[in-house]
Amino acid sequence: SEQRVKWVIGNWKMHGRLAENAALLQAVADGASAIGNSIRMAVCVPTPYLAQAQALLSGKPLAWGVQDISPYTHGAYTGEVAAEMAGEFGATLAIVGHSERRAYHAESSELVAAKARRALEADLTPIVCIGETLDEREAGTTESVVGAQLDAVLKLLSVEEAGRIVVAYEPVWAIGTGRSATAEQAQEVHAFLRARLAQKDASLTRVPLLYGGSVKPENALALFGQADIDGGLIGGASLKSEDFLAICEQA
Ligand code: G3P
Repeated sequence: SEQRVKWVIGNWKMHGRLAENAALLQAVADGASAIGNSIRMAVCVPTPYLAQAQALLSGKPLAWGVQDISPYTHGAYTGEVAAEMAGEFGATLAIVGHSERRAYHAESSELVAAKARRALEADLTPIVCIGETLDEREAGTTESVVGAQLDAVLKLLSVEEAGRIVVAYEPVWAIGTGRSATAEQAQEVHAFLRARLAQKDASLTRVPLLYGGSVKPENALALFGQADIDGGLIGGASLKSEDFLAICEQA
């Protein structure tokens, strides 16, 4: 199979304060400089800390992004943040469709698709999150669930646009539970997603497919060694520089 560059992206979720962020960003940036440009490293911070990320990370081999964006450019949408606003602070990535937003903010796959397109229009790389719940897995519907979540995005985007997304497969039952999918379970879904992308266009086999859900230094190597796993989206372990960098070193 062709060589694709590996990505390791931290998702801080709603964690951090200025003082602790400074130490964490500094340590991760130093580690990223030591690792170099052979992999793509990034952190997705809470929106108020974008300016801090920009101040501390500019010129470092560590990109930054946001955890959500509005599907609109501007307007009467109290509390929302436009992709361009994040871009003005140097963000190059936007997570869209995280399962926590699908679950707690009732985000549909159609809304997630609109957010992905909006990100692309503003030159942000959308990290489109998809994944099944435990009930769905146990009912044997994993492929139909993640297939439909991906299809909603592919339906809205042109082939050229779809070629600029990143997909993160995050089984809901593995997020924050300490119970990662096995490398084999993750690979099986990634292979399915790769084939689904290829059905839209052969060029889309190059879309990076990241795994997320309880990735730790101890399981990263096995996960990242799978043929269709192009890296990881890291929650809890991205809050500790040693753990995040240890994961990056496995990539
Ligand atoms: O977006 C990353 C995430 O949902 C995984 O979280 O804490 O299980 O690594 P965690």
